[in-house]
Amino acid sequence: MNSAAVDRSGDASSSSSRAVAIDVCLAGATGWAGSELARAMAKTSDLRLVAAVSRKHAGRNLGDVLSEPRLACPIHASVEEALARRCDVLVEYTKPDSAKANVLAALEHGAHVVVGTSGLSDADFAQIDGVARSRNRGVLACGNFALTVVLLQKFAEAAARLIPQWEIIDYAHDDKADVPSGTARELAFRLSKVRAPQPTIPVDKAVGPRETRGANVAGTQVHSIRLPGFVIGAEVIFGMPDQRLTIRHDAGGSARPYVDGALLAIRKVSTLTGVHRGLDAVLDL
Ligand SMILES: NC(=O)c1ccc[n+]([C@@H]2O[C@H](COP(=O)([O-])OP(=O)(O)OC[C@H]3O[C@@H](n4cnc5c(N)ncnc54)[C@H](OP(=O)(O)O)[C@@H]3O)[C@@H](O)[C@H]2O)c1
Repeated sequence: MNSAAVDRSGDASSSSSRAVAIDVCLAGATGWAGSELARAMAKTSDLRLVAAVSRKHAGRNLGDVLSEPRLACPIHASVEEALARRCDVLVEYTKPDSAKANVLAALEHGAHVVVGTSGLSDADFAQIDGVARSRNRGVLACGNFALTVVLLQKFAEAAARLIPQWEIIDYAHDDKADVPSGTARELAFRLSKVRAPQPTIPVDKAVGPRETRGANVAGTQVHSIRLPGFVIGAEVIFGMPDQRLTIRHDAGGSARPYVDGALLAIRKVSTLTGVHRGLDAVLDL
């Protein structure tokens, strides 16, 4: 890692006289989320995009594709190809079917990894954790970089300590293929570390189609809704006799909510070893 100085907020761009740039490879740089992140990186002085990945735009310059002259880096067709150019951090922002291989390739090349892509399972992360620890590298996986999701996670963990029954609803647009969302998976995983929910009637004792009770994700029943009119949202409902607590996050249509968290993750991931899930791994909450 080249960075010598990153202040406590993770914003090293202001203390730039001491900071050396962090070299970043961005897989998915032309996508909805990746292009917004690339444009934000162009405005920093401590993050340098040295390689980008997109199959459709391979061979072109990212600055030309995104109409951002401050981004002068080549686009490669694959992460393997892009990693020929050394980088400190790979940001994985492609698709669930390519993410795991890309993360493992980056670790093999000695890079730390920030995972924004959804769809990786707990088993995938366990395997990645083994490789990351053997290479002494950090992986920061955030199913959702938005601050309101980080708060949702923290509030839900506090509630789960006191309320023994909950379920999650995962809302997304109709063309989001992966279920449940990374946000819902990560939330279920985190709540599983607090305790297992204790439904009054276990799901396998339900009378009628079991699917109506949702999928069991790390012990929590998760219900995924995929309909036009939704963007991305997550809701966790805690129930006790005669009272109910609902904690809900909703994002709008732009990729703006994910930028600041992703920048912070890039700046901080080298302080970690192994897989860490959720932005609070590098936040003082
Ligand atoms: N963590 C968060 O806060 C957050 C926020 C938003 C989205 N996400 C997740 O991030 C992922 C990307 O979302 P998106 O909406 O940005 O998708 P998108 O608009 O479809 O962009 C995907 C990007 O990845 C590239 N790509 C896809 N498959 C690839 C492959 N096999 N090899 C190399 N490049 C590939 C695409 O370029 P080519 O097609 O040209 O290859 C494109 O640049 C999804 O899993 C989404 O759920 C997470």
